Amino acid sequence: MDNKAQLKQQFIDMMNFRHACKVFDETKKISEDDFLYIMESARLSPSSFGFEPWHFLVVQDQALREKLKEVTWGAQGTLPTASHFIIALVRTDKSMRFDRDYIENIMKNTHNIPAEGRIKRKGFYQEFQEHDFKLLQSERTLLDWATKQTYIALANMMNAAAFINIDSCPIEGFKADAVQQLLSSDFGIDTSEYQAAYMLAFGYRKNPQNEKTRQALDKIISWY
Ligand SMILES: Cc1cc2nc3c(=O)[nH]c(=O)nc-3n(C[C@H](O)[C@H](O)[C@H](O)COP(=O)(O)O)c2cc1C
Repeated sequence: MDNKAQLKQQFIDMMNFRHACKVFDETKKISEDDFLYIMESARLSPSSFGFEPWHFLVVQDQALREKLKEVTWGAQGTLPTASHFIIALVRTDKSMRFDRDYIENIMKNTHNIPAEGRIKRKGFYQEFQEHDFKLLQSERTLLDWATKQTYIALANMMNAAAFINIDSCPIEGFKADAVQQLLSSDFGIDTSEYQAAYMLAFGYRKNPQNEKTRQALDKIISWY
């Protein structure tokens, strides 16, 4: 196999290795170095205008996991056994609207854009939100748009983990209102600024994975 063929095979092997792992081997822990490598893949993920509408809570406290388990039906096997467990938060319209301080600050302090450039970019962003994508029709419209972007980090984290033989499970199986309540009462999160987008469990599989079931390529692609 030439080098390109090898790289392609390596990537596809990684995609096949990744599966929604339902129970982890509790005796195996992910090293700090490996976990930070996974989080680095989240940090480097792309976002619209580079505004990074996310924040990640790493939940290692067993008592907090117990409370989460009561309202997270999709993580009954993973919450108690995961080496590391993340709640991915999405920033609400309180940060993400074009005229918010968060936007101004990230352009200034992270993107290092001078004042004049920031005014221009804010104008673009306003046009995009108001007219191109009509994101300001409701708080929910903007939230859903921001949430979509957090799933790019989700995919990157799962793939980064799989690349070094770490298993994961993405989780949307939770009562959103109840989780918001917990975020506020037990995690000290300002829930007017953040909402839970998804959860993500990491560890090492306890059981062999099931065979992958996917539709054929010609079922999901149309060529023009
Ligand atoms: C956004 C999202 C949410 C999911 N939520 C859950 C969940 O709450 N609990 C769970 O066990 N699996 C969950 N899954 C896993 C899917 O059921 C799984 O990825 C799909 O059936 C394909 O199987 P595979 O990932 O093993 O290839 C979720 C997957 C995605 C992408």
